[in-house]
Amino acid sequence: MPDLAYVNGEIMPIEKAVVPIEDRGYQFGDGVYEFIASYEGRLFMLEEHLDRLERSMRELAFDPISRADFRKVVLDLFARSGYPRAGLYIQISRGVAPRNHAITPGMTPQVIMTIRPVKEMPAEKRQNGATAITVKDTRWGRCDIKTIQLLSNSLAKQKSLDAGCDDAIFVSDQGVVREGTSSNLFIVSGGRLTTHPLTDNILPGITRMVVLKLCRDADLAVEESFFGIDALVGADEVFLTGTVTELLPLVRINDKSIGRGEVGPITRRLYDLLRKQAMAGAGSN
Ligand code: PDD
Repeated sequence: MPDLAYVNGEIMPIEKAVVPIEDRGYQFGDGVYEFIASYEGRLFMLEEHLDRLERSMRELAFDPISRADFRKVVLDLFARSGYPRAGLYIQISRGVAPRNHAITPGMTPQVIMTIRPVKEMPAEKRQNGATAITVKDTRWGRCDIKTIQLLSNSLAKQKSLDAGCDDAIFVSDQGVVREGTSSNLFIVSGGRLTTHPLTDNILPGITRMVVLKLCRDADLAVEESFFGIDALVGADEVFLTGTVTELLPLVRINDKSIGRGEVGPITRRLYDLLRKQAMAGAGSN
């Protein structure tokens, strides 16, 4: 079975899928997306991802689409792929119209999806930890909306790779540590976890939400509050969270070791709890 694409109602091999050149997603970045992973044949946190997709569309005043119909289409593509460990990409643009900054009324949202096996994070990074640099946050002011405008994220990721690291961490002009290029970020200091609060400046990550609940259920002290680079590099443990990232330890940031420069016990424990929940199918379709 080839990797599949869905384009406005039709399923086809990915290489066959095309979109019109006047799609506003293509010309203006006027689109939203989700990325959902499956474990053992079940899409993890499907409803939460669909909730966030609907919210992104609402925030940008896209014409709504039917949740029930859309869920069916998603599950059908997933079933057709046959992949037990799939990465499902969903993108919805506002629609197609002759190029014009003003929004043409009455456009029909364009829905595309692709499905492939998940590209797993190297086991070595999970075991020994990954590295990161900090970069200036050059993104727009509504990072809480999951839009397809990912140029700053992409350039920051590349900058980290060029520096021989694995990822970049966005830091605001005022020195507030925000999140990774495709992940949220937690620090652990003196047994307490901290992550950036939900504001316009970070994505409300689904994995972040799951990890917050795992912390509370495990009686780990956790707070959502702002912190700066000193707290980041001075932390005992740091990890990123995301759908593909899952929960990834960072052991060096800007060439400084985090803690003892090895994966810490709270990170390990939370990773095990997250994997257990995902494999058990909790929150899955
Ligand atoms: N990215 N922050 C940003 C900027 C992200 O792009 C993502 C996810 C996250 C984590 O969100 P979640 O836990 O819901 O995956 C945080 C996806 C995976 C992507 O761009 O493909």
